[in-house]
This record gives sequence, C-alpha cells and structure tokens, in this order.
Amino acid sequence: MDAAAPAQSDTIVAGRTGALEGEVQIAGAKNSVLKLMAACLLAEGRHSLANVPDISDVSLMCELLEAMGVTVTRTDHRLAIDVPAELNTSAPYHLVERMRASIVVLGPLLARFGEARVALPGGDDFGPRPIDMHLRALESLGATFSTAHGDISGTAGVLSGAEIVLEYPSVGATENVLMAAVRAKGRTLIVNPAREPEIGDLMNFLNQMGAQVGWAGDRLAIDGVEHMSPVRSDDGYRVIADRIEAATFLAAVGMCGGSVLLRGAVADHMTMLTRKLTEMGLHIVEDAAGVRATAGGRLSSADVSTLPYPGLATDCKPFLVTMLTTASGVGIVTENIFMGRFRYIDELRRMGADIRTEGHHAVVRGAERLSGAPVRAPDIRAGAALVVAGLAADGETEVADAAHIDRGYEDLVGKLAGLGAAISRH
Ligand code: UD1
Repeated sequence: MDAAAPAQSDTIVAGRTGALEGEVQIAGAKNSVLKLMAACLLAEGRHSLANVPDISDVSLMCELLEAMGVTVTRTDHRLAIDVPAELNTSAPYHLVERMRASIVVLGPLLARFGEARVALPGGDDFGPRPIDMHLRALESLGATFSTAHGDISGTAGVLSGAEIVLEYPSVGATENVLMAAVRAKGRTLIVNPAREPEIGDLMNFLNQMGAQVGWAGDRLAIDGVEHMSPVRSDDGYRVIADRIEAATFLAAVGMCGGSVLLRGAVADHMTMLTRKLTEMGLHIVEDAAGVRATAGGRLSSADVSTLPYPGLATDCKPFLVTMLTTASGVGIVTENIFMGRFRYIDELRRMGADIRTEGHHAVVRGAERLSGAPVRAPDIRAGAALVVAGLAADGETEVADAAHIDRGYEDLVGKLAGLGAAISRH
C-alpha cells in the first residue's frame, strides 16, 4: 500500500457563507467499501474495486487486511486486493479499536478458514455497540465462540445453512451472516435483515464473486456455494455513491441557500431524507447526473425520527438537527438506533443553538442566527455537521479534532470551498 498521506492539521475553520453554487462529486460509500474489502477475503486472487473514497477508514481497512497477509495496492480511487491461499486469521486490537466496522471480517474468515480471532471492539463516542446478534447468528450456522484476553475466537467446521431471525435489522450482523452463509452448506434464510443500500451493494458484489444471494419476499435467501472467485471486470467493481456524504451537502445547501448539483448521488437511496428536506423547504430534483438541491430563505422546522432503512438514517440526524437550529419553529428529533447519539448537541449549544434533550428526544427551537465558536468534532458525521453549522454562523467556527471527519470524508474542505464556502484547514 502507498505510504500514508502526511498528517493534516486537526482544525477546520468555517466562516459565514452566502449561497453555495456549482457541483460536487459524491464519493464512493464508506459504509459499503469497507464491507466489500472484507468480502474479498472469501476468495483467493486479485480483487479490484473502483470508486473507492480517499478516506482514512479505507486506509485502516487496508492496514487490517495487510496485517492478515493480504497485499493492497491503492491508486487513484482504486484498490487492487491480492488475497493469498493462506492468511493470518487474526484482527488485532490496535486496528479494531480504531474502526468498529472491522468486525465484519469475522464472517468471511470463518466461512473460508473455519477460524477467526478478532479483538472485541470497545464502545465509541455514541455509546456501546454490541455484537451479540452477530455472534448468535453465526452460532446458528455452526460456529462456536470463546473470549479471552480481549479477543473473541471463533471456530467452525463446516458451516451449515439455517434460518436466522434477527431481532433487530442490524446492518453489521446482516453483513457478517451474509458473508459467512455464502460458503455454508445449504440454504440460509435471514428473517428481518437490514435492507440498507450498502447491503444491496454487498449482495451484488458477492453474487458477482459466484455467490447465490437474493430476496425471498422480505427475507434474504443465501444458497451456499463451494467456490468463489474475484469479480471479473476490467474496470473493477464500482462502489455505490455515499448517501451520507450526499446528505451532508444537502444540509449545507439548506443552511446557506444556493443551488448545487450532487454529481453521482442516487435519489432512490435517500427517499425518506429528501421527502423530509422538501417538507423543510429545500427543492430537490433527480437529474441524469445525480441530484440537484436548491434553497433560498429560512427553512421550516419538522419532526424527525431515525429508523432502520428505508427510514431516516441515524447518520443523517446530526445534519437534520443542525438545519433545525436555524429553521423557523420547533422540531422534535427522536433517535431510535443509538440511544446516546446526542453528544455533539453540547457543541451546537456553544454556537447558540436552542436544544433541549430528554432521553432519546431532542427539542430544537430554531434561532435566527448561530454564533461561531470553537467546537470539537466528536465523531465523523457530527463533526461534518458542525462544519456545516459553521457556514451559517456569524464569525468563525473552529472545529477541532477534524481527523474524525477524515475517516469518512474525502476532502470535505476542498469540496465545500469549491462551492463557494468560506472554509479552510489549519
Ligand atoms: C449502524 C447503522 C447504519 C450506520 C452505521 C454507522 C442502522 C440500523 N444501522 O450500523 O445505518 O451507517 O451504524 O453509523 O441504522 N445491536 C445490538 N447487538 C448487535 C448489533 C447491533 O444490540 O449485535 C444494536 C445496536 O446497539 C444498535 C442497533 O442494534 O442499537 C443497530 O446496530 P447496527 O445496525 O448493527 O449498527 P451498525 O452495523 O454499526
């Protein structure tokens, strides 16, 4: 893999910005590419991915694969991933603790090698993220697990297809089961699976590798196959567009006004979001090249509730809360996925936002103006939301710990500056 890029400075400075104009290229989806990289472990040979975002979580996943003995070559939005016949099947703590998505190597390693050792992920800034559903589901396929010294070790003889009922449509558990069941003996049915667009991307990728995965009504049906091989394509498998990055730019247009083409954005992946934003006063139209958003004047408040897809994504909530801080009226925001995911609200309050939280609800009373202040990015999306808030605040907003933002955004500062935003990195 290429040497890591020089460390960027850690503060983004955003100033009050007028209408945004122009177009922005939406990158490949973080929440898809990391899982596709893990799926490569299922087959020996050279895999090729295209439309890979240049973000630090991809670098971390490269490091994780390399720690297992995989060779990764990264060039201009592409990855060549050479998976050898034998691998070291351990995922070490120093990598797993920096990126929770690394837990998705569990399924493919068990399926192909019958063993896996993955450090137990800790909590993160929006609370604990358990993996009990992942483990129970993999046990239903025949795996057994033990924990010692902070690692979870799994072994499996031959995995066998089973009916798996997820009590909650967990994205990570659905991905782990999919990637284990593709090489199990017989049919697996997942009842109540997650149905995010990134799950669809993983299904396509696995099928192009020789798997047999599809929908059977509202369940996922996986017929195990003995052999899988890298996707045959000269151009590489193209990762879908990042709907959360798209949501970030929609929020920026909502806060600043203007008209921006989100090139490559897929309207069908954000129906619930665009409906809500339309209710708040944005004009959003699908275009052959992507999605165009136009806004002018103050937004109106709306009530918002996060739900598993096709509901409003929990990752979009910081952007909605931010937009509500300057909208006219009062909006009630309810978080149903991660109960603790409200920590950035204290930062928005420092900028003059009027937000009251109670349990998993936030009541946001729109103010005429926000006031720029030094704040801290607590995680990827909340960090980006604070940057967007800074564009609509008087004076300057310094967002510290911007490295969180780099985990999921390719050049957020450059892209916003390209639309006319008063933004820089120091
Ligand atoms: C979640 C989001 C996903 C988002 C990602 C990154 C949902 C449903 N999932 O995916 O859209 O992109 O975070 O922010 O919106 N849970 C358990 N036990 C488990 C697994 C999960 O109790 O074994 C609970 C979690 O605590 C959480 C819920 O299930 O309350 C959803 O978790 P899950 O979908 O698995 O999370 P991620 O895969 O991280």
